[in-house]
Amino acid sequence: MNLEIMVELTYLLSAILFVVGLKRLQSPATARRGNAIAAVAMALAILATVVDNQILSWGEILVGVAIGSIIGGLSARLVKMTAMPEMVGLFNGFGGGASALVAIAEYVGAEAEVGTSTYGVSIMLGTFIGGVTFSGSMIAFLKLREWMTGNPITYPAQKTLNAIMFLAVLVLGALALGIRAGTDPLAMFWIMLALSLVLGITLTIPIGGADMPVVISLLNSYSGLAASAAGFVIMNMVLIISGALVGASGLILTMIMCKGMNRSLTNVMFGAFGGTAAIDKSQIGKRPVRRADADTVAAELGYVNSVIIVPGYGLAVAQAQHELRKVGDLLEQRGVDVRYAVHPVAGRMPGHMNVLLAEADVPYDKLFDLEEINDDFGGTDAVLIVGANDVCNPAARDPKSVIAGMPILDVDKAHRTIVMKRSLSPGFAGIDNDLFYNDNNLMFFGDAKQSMADLVKAIRELA
Ligand code: TAP
Repeated sequence: MNLEIMVELTYLLSAILFVVGLKRLQSPATARRGNAIAAVAMALAILATVVDNQILSWGEILVGVAIGSIIGGLSARLVKMTAMPEMVGLFNGFGGGASALVAIAEYVGAEAEVGTSTYGVSIMLGTFIGGVTFSGSMIAFLKLREWMTGNPITYPAQKTLNAIMFLAVLVLGALALGIRAGTDPLAMFWIMLALSLVLGITLTIPIGGADMPVVISLLNSYSGLAASAAGFVIMNMVLIISGALVGASGLILTMIMCKGMNRSLTNVMFGAFGGTAAIDKSQIGKRPVRRADADTVAAELGYVNSVIIVPGYGLAVAQAQHELRKVGDLLEQRGVDVRYAVHPVAGRMPGHMNVLLAEADVPYDKLFDLEEINDDFGGTDAVLIVGANDVCNPAARDPKSVIAGMPILDVDKAHRTIVMKRSLSPGFAGIDNDLFYNDNNLMFFGDAKQSMADLVKAIRELA
């Protein structure tokens, strides 16, 4: 078998492994294996590419691989789960930037005019999408890191200006492909690249820092499309396929997040969404609530038949998942039926709660999606809400609320609710939560980790 066929077969194998890996990401039970399979696929694809192209010496390649592996390995180990969106944002940006550089190098290095061939159009697409992804992701990263303001930056006629810039990019791209004599294609190309970078910025700045994970997911999808375009430019099969997979899966994820937050995809794509409605913060947390301590909560949970636990962002902040698991186990030992209700956008990134609960080895068959469990709250004795707020805020049923229409967990239908958080402060959406003031609700104030440890102790002491 000659080298070319071996390389193509290796590419085919890695493409298949990418699909298998993605498929396994569907369930927390198989996700780790899926990730490992996709990593092997990537290693194979890189190996085939470096063997095939002999671009650099093996020494140089190994130095590059070593540097990349150290940065990747350290990031994976050191970055906190709550900081994952910004890390993904940064990596998306590098992916988009790399694809744009491939396209730029091809265009600048081309010996003849590239023309309006698939090759030429792919170069323009790779440059444009890669450029938007790079600068947009950098803004997303800066906002999430709070190295720039997380507030939406808006100015008059923002959407119109974005639309004009987009049209200008199309025209400049066509001119760069030489469709009209008398213009300098290379100059047009550089202006198109500059405008793409500006567009990435202007599309991302009007979005509030806390809404950024949805945008990051969309930019992730763009980085896949840019990679696919780069694949067409250098006719690399595995880049075309893997880019398309990232593009499609990123878009599906974005749509799931939009649905979970009741946002529209077009708003995310055209750079203006997120609550800017005026909220009267002066009244938040001013009404009386019923407080409870660990002993009371233990008694409320330890002597009932069914408990549903609702984890939220605060669980991740407090890193209380292991203590939570202990509470679940102790209740089960007492004969209580314990289940976990996972809202699609609980936390700050897709699957955030699934990952946390998996870390604490909570059995997967105890985790239920919103649709699966929402009808069961009415028949449940007690619901323990740990660091969650918006995902169970009944305000979503009020058409005038900023979270109107957001699907919520109907926890207020249960006989008893217990909310664990530090104060009456609002969650991500910035609004008060009527649930806290209900007659059948108890507030168990404190850091979730400490409160959970106290609860473990109190349940152990129950008769
Ligand atoms: P949130 O509504 O953000 O509420 C989290 C609550 O956790 C806060 O009210 C906070 O109250 C509490 N908390 C923080 N640190 C804590 C600690 N150490 N111990 C105990 N409690 C703590 O969370 P949620 O219910 O999970 O909802 C997620 C929100 O994020 C939704 O609005 C969603 O739309 C948005 N969002 C989600 C995503 C994805 S993909 N998941 C992406 C973007 C935006 P205290 O300060 O009083 O403790």
